[in-house]
Amino acid sequence: MRYPEVTVDSPSISTWVYPEESEGPPIGEDERVMLSIARRSARVGVIGLGYVGLPLVELFASGGFPVLGFDVDNHKIKLLSTGQSYIGHIPSSRIGALQASERFQVTSDFARLAEADAILICVPTPLGNHREPDLTAVTKTGEAIAKVLRQGQLVVLESTTYPGTTRDVLCPILESSGLKAGDDFFLAFSPEREDPGNPNFSARNIPKVVGGWDAASSRIACALYQAAIPRVVPVSTCEVAEACKILENSYRAVNIALVNELKQVFERMGIDIWEVIDAAKTKPFGFQAFYPGPGLGGHCIPIDPFYLTWAAREYGLHTRFIELAGEVNTAMPHYVVQRVIESLNDLGKTIRGARVLALGAAYKPNVDDCRESPSFEIMELLQERGAVVAYNDPHIPILPPRRNYSVRLESQPLTVEVLAEQDCVLILTDHAAYDYEFIVRHSPLLIDTRGATRHISVQGEKIIRA
Ligand SMILES: NC(=O)c1ccc[n+]([C@@H]2O[C@H](COP(=O)([O-])OP(=O)(O)OC[C@H]3O[C@@H](n4cnc5c(N)ncnc54)[C@H](O)[C@@H]3O)[C@@H](O)[C@H]2O)c1
Repeated sequence: MRYPEVTVDSPSISTWVYPEESEGPPIGEDERVMLSIARRSARVGVIGLGYVGLPLVELFASGGFPVLGFDVDNHKIKLLSTGQSYIGHIPSSRIGALQASERFQVTSDFARLAEADAILICVPTPLGNHREPDLTAVTKTGEAIAKVLRQGQLVVLESTTYPGTTRDVLCPILESSGLKAGDDFFLAFSPEREDPGNPNFSARNIPKVVGGWDAASSRIACALYQAAIPRVVPVSTCEVAEACKILENSYRAVNIALVNELKQVFERMGIDIWEVIDAAKTKPFGFQAFYPGPGLGGHCIPIDPFYLTWAAREYGLHTRFIELAGEVNTAMPHYVVQRVIESLNDLGKTIRGARVLALGAAYKPNVDDCRESPSFEIMELLQERGAVVAYNDPHIPILPPRRNYSVRLESQPLTVEVLAEQDCVLILTDHAAYDYEFIVRHSPLLIDTRGATRHISVQGEKIIRA
């Protein structure tokens, strides 16, 4: 065997022996690509420079590879080329360092895809209006690649999608170029597991699952990732890799739905769900803690499982767990609003005319990402019921326009005066930047959907869990 199989325990590719291009018989395209990966002369193209694509750019550039970034958004291209970041948890200094390394270029000229030896696709995969997969960005990207595809290029889809997308959707588009996957170019799927804002895990230390279109594609894709990431997990097909990501996200969606349901049951019983979870997670096996909240948010958990739901219908099957979890999770914003109404009522107040300050517009703590954030629905439901809504989010100074929501507000300063003039303060995102003691002290009524104040003791009924 010419190349060792790339497995979890395989040695670093830098220790392998490669044929020299100048010696012996001519080498094949796969050998040529492997050689360029080992020498770190392979140029990596990353398409879609968002929350997933930008960290990948950094990963390969810091691993010694020349990287070419592509995006359709000219504003992002302009910011990156002047060393500026547009993602809160990635400071501009890191973009400046990338520029200084001289290993990074950025462009919206997709003809330059021809320059890349490996092309990683990180474009959005949202849901359409009828909760069906919207693969427009993937197919358009495929068409752009097909125009310039050349012998020996590796194409890897990283965007989350249903099993079969790489083989049945992307491959035919790429092969419309006249080149054949496995023979002329190499194709793989490798799910992105980025958790933006997580201080413990990043693209650098999250194991990378890789499934190739064929054995050669798998070998080359694994070699590329192994050159930049300590742990690569090869799987037998692209479909296994696609299904792996859907399993991970469905697992989260279902478990979050479970604790969201239990929260409501325990609340009626007078039991604090947060204390229950804290106790349960002391079990050293067989239990993993998931936490309730005001509803699901982000680009992944509320969306990805429904890609499988759609695909399963083709096989005459229903994903009942996923759909039930979706039902429970999408009802959470209504539950939160109901708790606000009841809590105001207990104080002799109505929702109509009540001043409500929502804390947190981001879908999770410490990020500026408000895609699918339940905060928007909650603010809008409160407004529809006549509340005077304001919000604060240290990471989001102005609410960006969101499909399906019309709420437009500017973040209010979190001062004693602003807190004191509210009828209700509602914690929707538990940002670390918040001083919860201060918030509790100065809020007339506090409704906490995240358990952020569970270790703060106050007299009376001031804090309501929801
Ligand atoms: N954000 C996460 O935490 C996360 C985690 C794991 C997986 N994912 C998956 O990764 C993929 C990308 O997500 P993201 O969060 O980085 O999205 P994003 O919106 O932050 O970034 C996507 C980028 O792609 C660009 N783009 C859109 N259409 C394009 C096209 N046709 N050609 C080139 N660029 C195009 C956009 O301008 C944007 O800059 C999605 O499939 C998502 O489900 C996201």
